[in-house]
Amino acid sequence: MKFLVLNGPNLNFLGIREPEIYGKATYGDLETLVRQVCAEEDIEVRIAQSNHEGVLVDEIQSAYGDCDGIVINPAAYTHTSVALLDALKAVGLPAVEVHISDVSKREDFRQISYLRAACIATVAGEGLPGYATAIGLLKKHILGASLPPNA
Ligand code: DQA
Repeated sequence: MKFLVLNGPNLNFLGIREPEIYGKATYGDLETLVRQVCAEEDIEVRIAQSNHEGVLVDEIQSAYGDCDGIVINPAAYTHTSVALLDALKAVGLPAVEVHISDVSKREDFRQISYLRAACIATVAGEGLPGYATAIGLLKKHILGASLPPNA
């Protein structure tokens, strides 16, 4: 099983940006955590981050035929991007949306997620461990989906 773990704009500034909201752990710490969790779960992983919407679309498209599922923190593009929603729908891979902060308790403009409609689940407010939750949910979903009927 292989996953793409994709991070959107400003997440490369984890540890620097608004530590009272996103914590002090760095993007490197996040990569280490994701690699550890995937190794434990026997999942191959490709991790990517971009500040550019089109590059994120390219990354999602490149998962087609290469990955079994996508964990995505679209960051600010969560609240604006029809292009990322369409990309997820286009590749048709199961996806889990993850947010480090609890977006449900933040500004009104963060209450909308364009991508949620193309995701099997959303994990928010768990900090970096939320990525482990998302990876676990995605694996369970894929294994469940591949079970024969009545198994
Ligand atoms: C975020 C929440 C978004 O609203 C914000 O724009 C981000 C990070 C999160 O992980 O909590 O950049 O996706």
